[in-house]
Amino acid sequence: APSDPDLVARAWAAKQALGEKVFILGHHYQRDEVVQFADVTGDSFKLARDAADRPDAQYIVFCGVHFMAESADILTSASQQVLLPDLAAGCSMADMATAEQVEQCWDVLADLGIADRVVPVSYMNSSADIKAFTGRHGGTICTSSNAERALTWAFEQGEQVLFLPDQHLGRNTAVRQLGLSLDECVLYNPYKPMGGLTAEQLRGAKMILWRGHCSVHGRFTPECVDDVRERIPGVNVLVHPECRYDVVEKADYVGSTEYIIKALEAAEPGSAWAVGTELNLVRRLANAHPDKQIVFLDKSVCYCSTMNRIDLPHLVWTLESLVAGKPVNRITVDPRTAEQAHSALEQMLALP
Ligand code: 13P
Ligand code: SF4
Repeated sequence: APSDPDLVARAWAAKQALGEKVFILGHHYQRDEVVQFADVTGDSFKLARDAADRPDAQYIVFCGVHFMAESADILTSASQQVLLPDLAAGCSMADMATAEQVEQCWDVLADLGIADRVVPVSYMNSSADIKAFTGRHGGTICTSSNAERALTWAFEQGEQVLFLPDQHLGRNTAVRQLGLSLDECVLYNPYKPMGGLTAEQLRGAKMILWRGHCSVHGRFTPECVDDVRERIPGVNVLVHPECRYDVVEKADYVGSTEYIIKALEAAEPGSAWAVGTELNLVRRLANAHPDKQIVFLDKSVCYCSTMNRIDLPHLVWTLESLVAGKPVNRITVDPRTAEQAHSALEQMLALP
């Protein structure tokens, strides 16, 4: 639906009144009505770097989800304020690993005498607590665009990796990019004693994958790929690495949101593409490239409901709160957690 013209005018007016004081970041999964106001758009890696590169902006308005705003707060100075236009914009994947569960898992590894050879690698899509845990134990953060580099680095530091919280990104990267076998990966279920694994399995695994996933990307199945290949002969299937292993195996290309955007920019006019990632992005790409046939991989719609919580009314409310000098929805991470999480994020930014 077209945006309310009154709200559009109010958003522009507030943004103009704030000038350089405000910097608006927009993740690729955000709605068009929000993205039009973003000073930069990007995947979670690019946005984390962009936030860190803006020391002059007093306010960072993060149009994305909670863990991204937390990361921005960790990477910016204490005088800068990070705001999330709707506090209910969480991430179901990030919520699948709580600090308590991860500490319990680490105790299991310590009791088995293997904790000192395990390096934690945590996906950006995790809470600040999980990032702090990762930093405390000498690990690194990764995103979907540097997971291979992060895992390669981690296997230089230790013999085993505990990958949190997205099992699919962990498995896809370990097997397809590092050449591990599926048998070298085990799945740790935080709701079962010892993760539902035996001591032998935990000791023998190269990759201990946390049992988390993205409910949006989990909707794509191998049947979706077969189906679109039947409907559109010659179609190129391009998916995000948060998709299941059996889906990624059937695809032609795999990469982060930033990779997907570049691949479609470079695609030949007249070529056909089925894209397995969030729908706001796929629709925007289809509109941006009318000379290419770009379709959504699934037949049903598949938005990220929490990303979609950030809408124009929330953005206007947030910007106007800044104009009024009464900022709403500030995201802060306590200094101790921030310091430990910072070391894991710094490690990611320093990856070769
Ligand atoms: P990227 O933007 O890093 O590709 O991640 C996708 C995602 O699901 C963010 O929540
Ligand atoms: Fe989380 Fe998936 Fe939504 Fe990304 S798309 S914010 S991983 S639920």
